[in-house]
Amino acid sequence: MSKALMVFSGNANRALAEKITKYLGKNLSNADVTRFSEGEIFVKINNDVRGKDVFIVQPTCPPPNENLMELLIMIDALKRASASRITAVIPYFGYARQDRKDQPRVPITAKLVANLITAAGVDRILTMDLHATQIQGFFDIPVDHLYAASVVIEEIKKMKFIKELVVVSPDVGSIKMARAFAKSLGTSLCVVDKRRVNDKEAEVMNIIGDVKGKDVLMVDDIIATAGSITEAAKALKNKGANKIYVFASHGVLSGPAYDRLRKSSIEKIIITDSMPLKKKNKRIEIISVSDLMGEAIRRIHHNESVSSLFDHVN
Ligand code: R5P
Repeated sequence: MSKALMVFSGNANRALAEKITKYLGKNLSNADVTRFSEGEIFVKINNDVRGKDVFIVQPTCPPPNENLMELLIMIDALKRASASRITAVIPYFGYARQDRKDQPRVPITAKLVANLITAAGVDRILTMDLHATQIQGFFDIPVDHLYAASVVIEEIKKMKFIKELVVVSPDVGSIKMARAFAKSLGTSLCVVDKRRVNDKEAEVMNIIGDVKGKDVLMVDDIIATAGSITEAAKALKNKGANKIYVFASHGVLSGPAYDRLRKSSIEKIIITDSMPLKKKNKRIEIISVSDLMGEAIRRIHHNESVSSLFDHVN
């Protein structure tokens, strides 16, 4: 695209937005995203965006309603200011776990959120490790879907494991992601048969595969309350696992998460900077996806292939 590229950020993850613009050799464009006294959001775009190719970096991470609303209002402001094309860069897409009607009289909030973002006037979406890849289909506009694995696996290869490594999927939903890790790392794959008791608790029914005497890398898309990974870690230890490491693309770390991690036998948790980390913790390591996001933005801007960024991990 010959039109100039501009990157804006809401308040959700300004640090990531700044790193992305650094990769692109640019400065973050200027917008006020503030609050009226009663809490309503006010946005003012302070640069001329007429005819520009505009990207808004805004994960819908906690607080999800505030961050989603900021995104919607920023899209509206940019549309009305005559931006030529608006891409919402949503490294973490919140509300994604409500993606189907799994009990009577519940909403499909992921679809509602996709409708809201589209109705606000966005032209395309760039996101990463959606809870379910099918959510791409909730949008009737182009969606580029990145995989953190494409940067994380290289870092994991540099780690020193004492024993033979096995990749573990902490539930059936993460098998595809775990299989990609196992394939790239050349390890075997185990699966935890997990049952969700309620939104804060998970119960492990069984471990499928052999972890005895092995180091474990558990791979998941999200750590929210950390119930899934800490319960799985207990079960893996009971089956004789050696050291337990975890990778999750999105470290939501809500509610009892930090307390559960403190009490768990997990050695290290690797997450990305798709959202800001609430509290530093010596067991948590962050791998940045800023260059991956930045490169995807560069390619979208120049109409180049984005899928070739992650061909090797899909
Ligand atoms: C579940 O389907 C997801 O892949 C994660 O395992 C889950 O969202 C993690 O939630 P929590 O940390 O609260 O167990």
